[in-house]
Amino acid sequence: MPKVLVTGGAGYIGSHTCVELLNAGYEVVVMDNLCNSKAGVLDRIETITGKKPAFIEGDVRDYDAVKRALCGVDGVIHFAGLKAVGESVKKPLLYYDNNLGSTITLLQAMEEMGVNAIVFSSSATVYGDPATVPVKEDFPLSCASPYAYTKYMCERILEGACVANENLSALLLRYFNPIGAHESGIIGEDPNGIPNNLLPYIAKVAVGQLPKLTIFGDDYPTRDGTGVRDYIHVVDLAKGHVLAMDYALTHKGAEAINLGTGSGSSVLEVFHAFERACGRELPYMIGPRREGDVPEYFAETTKAKELLGWVAEKDIDDMCADTWRWQKGNPNGYEE
Ligand code: NAD
Ligand code: WQD
Repeated sequence: MPKVLVTGGAGYIGSHTCVELLNAGYEVVVMDNLCNSKAGVLDRIETITGKKPAFIEGDVRDYDAVKRALCGVDGVIHFAGLKAVGESVKKPLLYYDNNLGSTITLLQAMEEMGVNAIVFSSSATVYGDPATVPVKEDFPLSCASPYAYTKYMCERILEGACVANENLSALLLRYFNPIGAHESGIIGEDPNGIPNNLLPYIAKVAVGQLPKLTIFGDDYPTRDGTGVRDYIHVVDLAKGHVLAMDYALTHKGAEAINLGTGSGSSVLEVFHAFERACGRELPYMIGPRREGDVPEYFAETTKAKELLGWVAEKDIDDMCADTWRWQKGNPNGYEE
């Protein structure tokens, strides 16, 4: 079976993707500098799959280290990057350096080592505030933060590399809102400090580490006034990466593909689904809108189905039940 280098493979989406790659029979090498993850996740991947990925602790901006990591590798899934939108506004150079630097260095090393398939973590954030929903891959792109610009620019860098090298294949996967955890409850999302994102925040309220959820605005032009997003189970997303790797290894050129469920849930709908998952009412209050939030978006998913044969299978109740199982069993995440 082919061998895949997974950059950022110790992180949230990367660790779930390692599980699905190993289950599908791929050989896996993880490269991660552990700036937002813990090495202990690799033992947990082994607990789930019976196989432990090879691990290189290192930075993807280190050209020589990446070249060594690419020995014998057939394709790369590139998750490594910084992802906090608010932090990117405060520290734009850190984000441009890390996210662009790692992608450029990786592509240079791939060219040198003759590796011609890459799957890249892009984001629905590249659509900005879309004029209509569902959002299609050919909609105009617009960026509202340095983080979004890094994803937009990496997409253009990868497209340019495919024009220059006709053997190269690059899949630009635009994730909507990944949530949930592996159904075993053994791996999940473990953000540092107070979470920025909705699901980890609700989970910490449910486990008693935060007093209540503040819902950012209930006066949006949506069905209940709260923001609507396309939440996608991280295991569905991980399976999409396995299919994307299969595709990248057998095709040439660049393709941008949405990975979402194709339907939206409001903040209140997600909150009530989480209450069902943990079996009790949870405290919340309505606060002001969060700057930069858009009212509503969800994905058009036809392209993922046609090119990859991928459709999301899990619903919002699965996502909340799995998040709760992980949070309840690991109240302090990967810390022992
Ligand atoms: P994460 O922070 O859990 O994982 C990223 C991993 O990359 C971490 O383990 C971190 O230590 C590592 N890393 C960062 N910079 C590195 C570098 N220079 N060299 C080596 N390792 C490095 O984040 P995630 O949620 O798993 O996201 C994975 C990717 O998907 C990111 O590129 C993110 O921007 C993108 N994405 C995430 C979301 C989301 O909501 N989680 C949505 C859309 C896109
Ligand atoms: C979801 C909804 C909030 C927290 C972010 C990034 C995006 C992508 C995915 C990387 C919104 C509301 C949230 C809270 C709330 N990441 N909310 N109270 O903003 O859609 O997307 O993650 O690429 O780029 O921007 O996700 O989970 O922060 O918010 O009411 O405490 O929940 O207003 O409607 P978002 P989120």
